[in-house]
Amino acid sequence: MPVPRAAERAAALRKQLDDANYRYHVLDDPQLSDADYDALLRELIDLEEANPQLRTFDSPTVRVGSAVASVFSPYPHGKPMLSLGNAFDGNELRAFDERVRKLAGDVPVSYTCELKIDGLAISLHYENGAFVRGGTRGDGTVGEDVSENLRTVRSIPLKLRGKGVRAIDVRGEVYFKRSDFDALNARREAAGQTLFANPRNTAAGALRQLDARLTAERRLSFFAYAVGAVDAAGFPSTQFDLLAFLRELGFATNPHVRRAPTIDDVIAFTEKWDGERDSLDYEIDGIVIKVDDLALQEKLGYTGKDPRWAIAYKFRAREATTKLLRIGINVGRTGTLNPYAELEPVQIGGVTVSNATLHNEGDIRRKDIREGDVVVVRRAGDVIPQVVGPVLAERKKKLKEFTMPTHCPVCGFDVDRPEGEAMARCTNATCPAQRRERVRQFASRGAMDIEGVGDVLAFALVDEGLIDDVSGLYALTAERLATLPRMGEKTIANTLANIAGSKQRGLARVLFGLGIRMVGAQNAAILAGDCGTIDALMAASEADLMLSDGIGAQIAASVTLFFQQEANRALIERLRTAGVELTAPKRERAGVGPLAGKTFVLTGTLPNLTREEAGEMIVAAGGKVTSAVSKKTTYVVAGEEAGSKLTKAESLGVEIIDEEALRELLGGA
Ligand code: IVH
Repeated sequence: MPVPRAAERAAALRKQLDDANYRYHVLDDPQLSDADYDALLRELIDLEEANPQLRTFDSPTVRVGSAVASVFSPYPHGKPMLSLGNAFDGNELRAFDERVRKLAGDVPVSYTCELKIDGLAISLHYENGAFVRGGTRGDGTVGEDVSENLRTVRSIPLKLRGKGVRAIDVRGEVYFKRSDFDALNARREAAGQTLFANPRNTAAGALRQLDARLTAERRLSFFAYAVGAVDAAGFPSTQFDLLAFLRELGFATNPHVRRAPTIDDVIAFTEKWDGERDSLDYEIDGIVIKVDDLALQEKLGYTGKDPRWAIAYKFRAREATTKLLRIGINVGRTGTLNPYAELEPVQIGGVTVSNATLHNEGDIRRKDIREGDVVVVRRAGDVIPQVVGPVLAERKKKLKEFTMPTHCPVCGFDVDRPEGEAMARCTNATCPAQRRERVRQFASRGAMDIEGVGDVLAFALVDEGLIDDVSGLYALTAERLATLPRMGEKTIANTLANIAGSKQRGLARVLFGLGIRMVGAQNAAILAGDCGTIDALMAASEADLMLSDGIGAQIAASVTLFFQQEANRALIERLRTAGVELTAPKRERAGVGPLAGKTFVLTGTLPNLTREEAGEMIVAAGGKVTSAVSKKTTYVVAGEEAGSKLTKAESLGVEIIDEEALRELLGGA
């Protein structure tokens, strides 16, 4: 191609690519597919390679990055980058509002509320419409110059739209979209690379790559929300309009902003997003509240490092970092070896966490979690805390990779991990760990509810050979219990009375207590209610079982397999001989019963019932229990510390009831 033609084509391609970028990132209205964009970009790269004189510093081709830096140079901020004071509840927001209104005097106050994006604050410097350089926040006065890496972020404009801005520092947050983060991890998994722990840490790592081509591959995003030094005509007078001004210049700003005339509006906004944060494609950790009037902001000024005109409302924390002291192994009741993390105790959202789950060996290895690592621990809602992944930047010395033991840590038998299965298992069916877990499960609150037979006693009974299986509980005597440490007369009498009392719990509880794979409290209640007796259940084929609501092929197969085992049938006979009730009131079939056609979601801690118990009662009355709130949910039964499910219910207008109201629906049970 002759050079003038090439120059023309390059200019046309740049315009097309810039427009596509703007439509995609700012207007959120893409008109070019990713593949078309990539094809045009490829054409431009080839053109520039063939004609290096056509290269420009603001060509979209610079977004692919280049290997440059060996260290980052310091980036002094014209105006300091501030931090914000925090508020953790409505009262603290009201106190903030009172301070502001007092200092404002007669000037009317209103606020702009924005999502607090959980990323990294950066500052971008533009001169005469062109991106010149950009840096991290650092200590607020001096950061690091990461200009080359920032150029690869497609939602950061290389040229400003419109004229009139001579110079400007634009501030905002670089972040990772969840979808881009998941896609990155999927690519890494396919390539056999270790997985990244969370979007924020990964964004931080990506921004500090010395090779900007690696930053480009990570696909970071950017939202603008503030300015530093400005030399521009037609500058707006409120924060709300400032965001519109930034959008006109070509920056992506977050769409979920709200002007709030009163602090009640502010609080309503924080509550709304506390419940809906998971619906976003990026992580937020709170709401930033700013006095809307920029002149009033100026007047209010600063205390030390924090502005008096803004505050960050922080959601309850869900993640924290702490040291992983040791990876322990629990042996479950089906013999699975379950790794768990022993942690240096850490506070997460007001709860001290010192243990967390680690899923399985494959997961630990994919995430490359090692003893001695600093790890990210996550605790959300009712779920057990889990280790999300290591903070690799903190791994100062060599640490040993994790391997699963080849022998059961409890009985020493071989460990088997069948091809294609995630979990390793102890091969010894009479492993004391499995027997202990079975006893514990049987006696637990949602099952036979035998007070006094908890972890300690269940383990002692098995380890001291007082019982071989759960039927042995019913053959215990005062003399035998007295051989165990710390068993006084009164404790023994109570324990025996509780064991005897458990005989009447009925078939649903027995089934749940047996710990059959895939038979939780609700499936147990369904199976017991539909079969009526243990004999009918044991005689049922897989096809028979699948006639029950919610019982699929896998559950049915697991149940029949369980009852085909001679040892399990013998156990049932021992329970029967001991006088354990093995029948259940027939459940109303679908369409009948007081709760027929109604769907429930249980959340939080109820005053008197476990969630298993409540679920069982609902199912027995013909209702259904699901785990996620949707428009189809009839009631959400909420207890204390109910989390996002409650807020979701509120936003969908689903009726929320407490335990008492549930009992009324059940007919005063
Ligand atoms: S305004 C004085 N707006 O939160 C104004 N900050 O604790 C300073 N952040 O360092 C920042 N989203 O990294 C502002 N919409 C938003 C924000 C936001 C996230 C971060 C930012 C800042 C920190 C303040």
